[in-house]
Amino acid sequence: MDFNLTEEQIMIQQAARDYAERELIQDVSERDAKAEYPTQHIKNIAELGFLGMMVDPAYDGGGMDTISYALAIEEFSKIDSSVSVIMSVQNSLVNYGLDKYGTHEQKEKYLKALARGEAIGAFLLSEPEAGSDATMQRTTAVDKGDHYLLNGTKNWITSANAASYYLVIAQSQPEMGHKGINVLIVEKESSGISLGPHEDKMGMRSSDTHSVMFQDVKVPKENRIGEEGFGFSFAMKTLEGGRIGIAAQATGIATGALERSIKYSKERKAFGKPIGNHQAIGFKLSDMAVKVEAARNFVLKAAWLKDNNMPFGVASAMAKQYAADIAMEVTTEAVQIHGGYGYVKEYHVERLMREAKLTQIYEGTSEIQKIVISRSLLQD
Ligand code: CAA
Repeated sequence: MDFNLTEEQIMIQQAARDYAERELIQDVSERDAKAEYPTQHIKNIAELGFLGMMVDPAYDGGGMDTISYALAIEEFSKIDSSVSVIMSVQNSLVNYGLDKYGTHEQKEKYLKALARGEAIGAFLLSEPEAGSDATMQRTTAVDKGDHYLLNGTKNWITSANAASYYLVIAQSQPEMGHKGINVLIVEKESSGISLGPHEDKMGMRSSDTHSVMFQDVKVPKENRIGEEGFGFSFAMKTLEGGRIGIAAQATGIATGALERSIKYSKERKAFGKPIGNHQAIGFKLSDMAVKVEAARNFVLKAAWLKDNNMPFGVASAMAKQYAADIAMEVTTEAVQIHGGYGYVKEYHVERLMREAKLTQIYEGTSEIQKIVISRSLLQD
């Protein structure tokens, strides 16, 4: 077993770290306070190739592996998960799905611009009454011959406003249950689309989250990805990879909190010595480091399985559940170590704690990951 990263993986990790430490840190607190979309950062990371990392170079992508992608997500998330979630949705939900299952024409028309980062994409699965229970799609895409007519509402959509292209999961044949669900590429400028207000979130406040309403939106037939009825399977397969991105994000949040806690524990003195030299704090740091290391190993194992074309759905569910849960634990301890300073904005750990919470909720809650894992244990 080789635990070494390749030269290329180290280079990508370093490039992400440099950008995060030099640029993202500058205005992360201000953007968080104002819930302001990171327009310039998204342009910059697009130019650096971070929005089309794994896409086939034939479609203007970087052709990189999932390990490199996970390492980059982790680095950005140590500083700013509003940026890394935009990057994660773009790479692993939108680009991956189009690259793997789209037609050549769809890739020429949509994927190239997405891979270059000139266009942003969004993944529209969740609905007001279909979150964890994703088969219960109420949004309809009625077959009208040469097009589908789309009606319904999607909720909690990352990049809903910034995106030019949506991948929309919708029910076309309700009598067939999940086998009647399609996935359609929808251009945001199509007539009949409106957005709800920007969600005022607890964390990741500068990522762009809205509900999206469709009223008699015409979508050409050629914009369906895959066969008729492939939409639910598409969503599940795509989310398997998405969960590696979110697991990497959670690992990055936890790592950021750990690094800040180590620094603070060396600087801050109490009872005549640095607080890290008190066993109460030293043991906390030790527990945090063990959890972070285990989460990173889970993430890299899932990414490695995907890169080697082996089944990775259960591994990505384990990585996501574990990394999200420990991100919450580690950031909570980081706030505790910082004491009163942890509870105010200046030291960033309270923001990391708010960001960690979302990793237990989106792209499948921790409980949904347990369903995926336990079913795999119990299946014959
Ligand atoms: N790959 C391919 N097919 C799959 C699959 C997978 N990983 N998992 C399930 N399926 C197929 C099943 O085989 C089944 O098909 P057949 O009937 O043909 O065999 C079909 O899908 C239905 O599967 P289940 O009976 O297992 O469905 P279920 O309703 O019991 O539960 C679930 C499935 C795992 C709970 C699923 O609903 C799920 O993952 N829910 C969570 C949804 C989610 O993650 N939402 C995140 C929103 S996106 C987001 O957050 C993005 C963002 O903006 C950050």
